[in-house]
Amino acid sequence: MKHIPVLLDSVMGALGDVHGKKIIDATFGAGGYTRAFLNAGADVIAFDRDPNVVPDADIIAREYGERFRFVPRPFSCIAELDGVYDAIVFDLGVSSMQIDIPERGFSFRGDGPLDMRMSGDGVDARGLIENLSVDELARVLRDYGDVRGAKRMAQNIKDARPQTTYELKSLIQNPHDVAPVFQALRIAVNDELGELERALDAVPNLLVAGGRCICITFHSIEDRIVKKVFRSWTTAPGDPRMPTIGVASFAPIKTAVPTDAEINHNPRARSAHLRGVVKSY
Ligand SMILES: C[S@@+](CC[C@H](N)C(=O)[O-])C[C@H]1O[C@@H](n2cnc3c(N)ncnc32)[C@H](O)[C@@H]1O
Repeated sequence: MKHIPVLLDSVMGALGDVHGKKIIDATFGAGGYTRAFLNAGADVIAFDRDPNVVPDADIIAREYGERFRFVPRPFSCIAELDGVYDAIVFDLGVSSMQIDIPERGFSFRGDGPLDMRMSGDGVDARGLIENLSVDELARVLRDYGDVRGAKRMAQNIKDARPQTTYELKSLIQNPHDVAPVFQALRIAVNDELGELERALDAVPNLLVAGGRCICITFHSIEDRIVKKVFRSWTTAPGDPRMPTIGVASFAPIKTAVPTDAEINHNPRARSAHLRGVVKSY
């Protein structure tokens, strides 16, 4: 299924007029946000660590020429960019394309190898299970999935060494625990929270005065991180993270969640949550 951009109207509303502005789309995906930014007259640098999105990025590059640049790397690499930008947007998590291809191993709805790597590089979910001790795996399940009985579940998984998504699913007795277990492993395989923290660390120095950072989160664990980091910026002017520009100050942008109509049209939007900040000076 083609990925339907989530909360796009709210994102555009939170950014205001972007004509002539420079935007970092940290999570290109199917390019839904990027196209909207370009069509509204902005220049876009887009990041995605999934090599499968490159053909879509190539099409956009041909259409929009120098106004668009694609960087096939993790978004924590925004820290290496030169210059300053008017907006940085994170639409976190996985895309419909990633979920819908069973061979990628993200979904328990189709059978495939227990992979879960967005980038295709590094250790996959099978390797992670192999490498972690029972206690470490239990911590992953607890911290990234709020899984109850995490220690027992970790022991079962270690003993069974599942190689496919269906094998893993068959080990989970309570149907309510299936999605949280898959989520927890996916977060660990892709170091999703570490990536988010490192990227957010780089944001203050990359924004112009008046620049905005918008995050769309899909579960409470990443939402908690965004909320905490944004709160630290909005309540602590003079953050030492801004050595080159001295004192900076941020104000929160109104949060948003999808309407019932959006959720009916796109059930994957249901847990989305928009948070944003604007840098005032
Ligand atoms: C929800 S989709 C984005 C959809 C996009 N906004 C659109 O409208 O088409 C999230 C995308 O972010 C990418 N992604 C997630 N974490 C990433 C990271 N740390 N670095 C780079 N890309 C990442 C995923 O590969 C996926 O393609």
